[in-house]
Amino acid sequence: MDRIQVRGGNRLNGQIRISGAKNAALPLMVASLLTDEPLTLASVPRLTDIAQLGEILAGLGVQIEQQPQATGSGSIGHTLKLHASTIASTEAPYDLVRKMRASFLVIGPLVARCHGAKVSLPGGCAIGTRPVDLHLKGLEAMGTEIELSDGYVIARAPKGLHGARISFPFVSVGATENLLMAAALARGTTVLENAATEPEITDLVHCLQAMGARITGTGTRTLTIEGVDRLKGASHTVLPDRIETGTYVMAVAAAGGEVELTETRADLIEAVIPLLRDAGVSIIPTAKGIKVSRNGAHYTGVDVTTEPYPGFPTDLQAQLMALMCTANGVSRITETIFENRFMHAPELTRMGADITIEHQTAVVRGVERLRGAPVMATDLRASVSLIIAGLAAEGETTVNRVYHLDRGFERIEEKLSAVGADIRRTKG
Ligand code: UD1
Repeated sequence: MDRIQVRGGNRLNGQIRISGAKNAALPLMVASLLTDEPLTLASVPRLTDIAQLGEILAGLGVQIEQQPQATGSGSIGHTLKLHASTIASTEAPYDLVRKMRASFLVIGPLVARCHGAKVSLPGGCAIGTRPVDLHLKGLEAMGTEIELSDGYVIARAPKGLHGARISFPFVSVGATENLLMAAALARGTTVLENAATEPEITDLVHCLQAMGARITGTGTRTLTIEGVDRLKGASHTVLPDRIETGTYVMAVAAAGGEVELTETRADLIEAVIPLLRDAGVSIIPTAKGIKVSRNGAHYTGVDVTTEPYPGFPTDLQAQLMALMCTANGVSRITETIFENRFMHAPELTRMGADITIEHQTAVVRGVERLRGAPVMATDLRASVSLIIAGLAAEGETTVNRVYHLDRGFERIEEKLSAVGADIRRTKG
């Protein structure tokens, strides 16, 4: 298994190009199931999650062609042309779906287009129980019979889907995406209340609209979808990855230095900027993206609670915790989206951090410095928090089980070493 070794202490200086958003690219790829015409997606990051979803879609009959990215992007990203001229199979098997929760998104489009599907219950990061009840209740409200059998969901809608008013009891990104795609081809009007408003949802809405879907309420908690008989092909560019953007902001804040993050936008991390400015980190929007700097001055602890967008994202909670380990004073970090999402805390403690978990809150008492240690990546975002901690630590940190990292961060060692980090991958 590959490992990443980081020798801390180097300041970071230069530019880092931000990739297209993984969490936008995945549902956009699934949207290709809704039409028999090609869907072309530019700025898709090269990640194992993308490749794995590609495998699932190929098994359903989608032809996928990779095209080189526009000039100037180096080895970052690629363009995918996805063509589901016919659906060859409506079954997504356990072996593929278990690796990634987002693959469950195929169920809505398959039922909408083919009136049935058999999809394994999903796996993904080990961050607590992550049911799919909201996805299934929504599909039932739209006329689907659901049967659970041997770890599979068998969905049947012999008469096709019809519109429905669906009110989510709490915000779910995945359920909003699944039902949005299903509703695009349903008969009549669907209203999704208490829908997610994450930028990745808005990106999906824009792509579906380009494919001919009739959706209003974009960016609000109520989405109204007038189903159409068929959707057509389209070309769409994936929006920049706000989680990768926020991650590098915290990496620069932790290590010190000055880095411009390019091909991204400050508005995507609106909840992060004032918080880090309060902590003492300089963040300035530029024509190309965002400039982050911390030169010498120390930074102070902040309190934060994770929330659905536009609140502070759970996907940046681990990275913020790594940064706060060496802040002046105490930080209280409360996780409200997922249970069991503090698995990085014991690993950070191995590096000398002072963290106590009290129910949903991690109390981080800043220490003078962290010390490098062998640590274990437990999930995607936790693994990158250990790299951030390693950049700020004294000595060498070895992060084991980095396959988690490869699911979500494109060419992280290259991007960090280009700005001066001492980081390398050991194959094995
Ligand atoms: C997506 C993101 C993930 C991010 C999360 C929250 C992708 C591919 N993944 O995950 O990176 O951390 O949003 O911003 O975009 N829940 C239920 N029943 C359901 C669905 C969800 O109880 O049917 C719960 C989950 O267990 C979790 C919460 O709702 O506690 C939020 O989950 P959700 O927003 O659905 O996350 P994902 O779409 O899986």
